[in-house]
Amino acid sequence: MSVTVRVPAKVNAQLAVGAARPDGFHDLANVFLAVGLYDEVTVTEADELRVTCAGPDAGEVPLDRTNLAARAALVLAGRYGRSPDVHIHIAKDIPVAGGMAGGSADGAGALVACDALWGTNASRDELLDICAELGSDVPFSLVGGAALGTGRGEKLSPLEVGGTFHWVFAMADGGLSTPAVFREFDRLAEGTDVPEPVASEDLLAALEKGDTAALAAALSNDLQPAALSLRPSLADTLAAGREAGALAGLVSGSGPTTAFLVADAESAYSVAERLRTSGTCRSVRTASAPAPGVTLL
Ligand code: C5P
Repeated sequence: MSVTVRVPAKVNAQLAVGAARPDGFHDLANVFLAVGLYDEVTVTEADELRVTCAGPDAGEVPLDRTNLAARAALVLAGRYGRSPDVHIHIAKDIPVAGGMAGGSADGAGALVACDALWGTNASRDELLDICAELGSDVPFSLVGGAALGTGRGEKLSPLEVGGTFHWVFAMADGGLSTPAVFREFDRLAEGTDVPEPVASEDLLAALEKGDTAALAAALSNDLQPAALSLRPSLADTLAAGREAGALAGLVSGSGPTTAFLVADAESAYSVAERLRTSGTCRSVRTASAPAPGVTLL
């Protein structure tokens, strides 16, 4: 028997980052938006825990127990005192180490799929609790839609979204390490007073109204200077997207994927075409938001 789930990527419409906490994490005001780029995770009974992955970037995905999907199976099995022996197959479409929560998506997906396969029937709260243990962005991958994440990003409040937003994503060569980007944020912030992170009222209102122009004006990412410092060429991609007709562009999460908000589906197509020929990125995708969270197929 096997179970397959579909899990979306995310973009951060706002990522406000506070000063480093004593535990090394940063308090955030993180406005997550799930976008319609998906990984599919299939779990099948097996003699031992193993992970396989297919897709254009499959070679970059770790297949050992550091993979969040494997860790999800281990944590759930541990809590229910059962064997974690399962074959987890990831059909990967979300960019790897791209700032779009691809690893988190696989963790949330494997958790829900194992819960269904094993009949452990964990409550939603317990699943969210395990997600938070796996990583700061994992709970959002489970719930999808749009949500404000506070704490280190794992405490979620759902947000109303009054329309569909169209995005173009430019994938860069190679990934960026999230801890390295946060370290660079700390280095750039040295000697300054980092304000408490707060969600932008204008941004939340724009989401609620489905107002694309207002959302474009309110997008922000406090990690962007750090990502640009580590990867200066991303400035060329951002400029190319704006020249191509995007309403706004920003680094997605810790990068290096860049995200462009566009007026409508036609504009997404033309901006994507122009970005593809700009020579400033590896590949380009279009997707709309919000997308649902983990879905059993
Ligand atoms: O929670 P997660 O394991 O995804 O975080 C990866 C790394 O990103 C952390 O080890 C930390 O360096 C950084 N991080 C942070 N503050 C957050 C979330 C992540 O500093 N709120």
